Amino acid sequence: MGTKQKLRLAVLASGSGTNLQSIIDQSQQGLLDAEICLVISNNPGAGALTRAAQAGIKTLCINHREFDTREEFDRAVIAGVQKVGAELIVLAGFMRIISALFLQAFPQKIINIHPSLLPSFPGLHVQQKAIEYGAKFSGCTVHFVDSGVDTGPIIIQAVVPIFHDDSEETLAARILEQEHKIYPQAIQWIAEGRIKIVDRQVQIIDSGSTEGTLTNPSIP
Ligand code: GRF
Repeated sequence: MGTKQKLRLAVLASGSGTNLQSIIDQSQQGLLDAEICLVISNNPGAGALTRAAQAGIKTLCINHREFDTREEFDRAVIAGVQKVGAELIVLAGFMRIISALFLQAFPQKIINIHPSLLPSFPGLHVQQKAIEYGAKFSGCTVHFVDSGVDTGPIIIQAVVPIFHDDSEETLAARILEQEHKIYPQAIQWIAEGRIKIVDRQVQIIDSGSTEGTLTNPSIP
């Protein structure tokens, strides 16, 4: 870690903000070469805003309902992010689609977490969709944001089993536990400058690879 300048993060969240909390916690424990300089929410009731305020982090509520177009809303968000000089934009349960304007303002500087093993199950209600499909594994994915929905280059994924008696809630909780581990890790790799994107493949310099395979159900 040393005395190197910390990577300045803006976290965008619409909901309860447990992923935000995991980043706050790791940063407070000195485990991240990154600091959250701003939390933005489009939802005035977002738990994420309360969590940020409790941690003494600057917050900005930009209610999308007060804007006529997505571009105008995005312009306000971009201005907020630029004002604090954020270098990486971390979407953590941000329920608005990012416009081309936003992407152009921060090329390869926006990351997202999604509760499935992409490219399976992009979009919404994906835990329920994975159960209904009968998939035996699901998980979560941290990826760079591009112009598609949940389609950008993948940084890290975690796998969890789906059990026959899972509900949307039990599976979501199992996945969320992993989200809280892989999102701070991805941010740390970016802060360390260890990420290289070639075409749509993300290489993490000097990282280990997982060995072995998993089956579910298990086999002898
Ligand atoms: C998470 O499941 C994340 O993968 C998805 O939205 C949810 C946000 O949860 N993008 P939280 O607000 O961080 O608790």
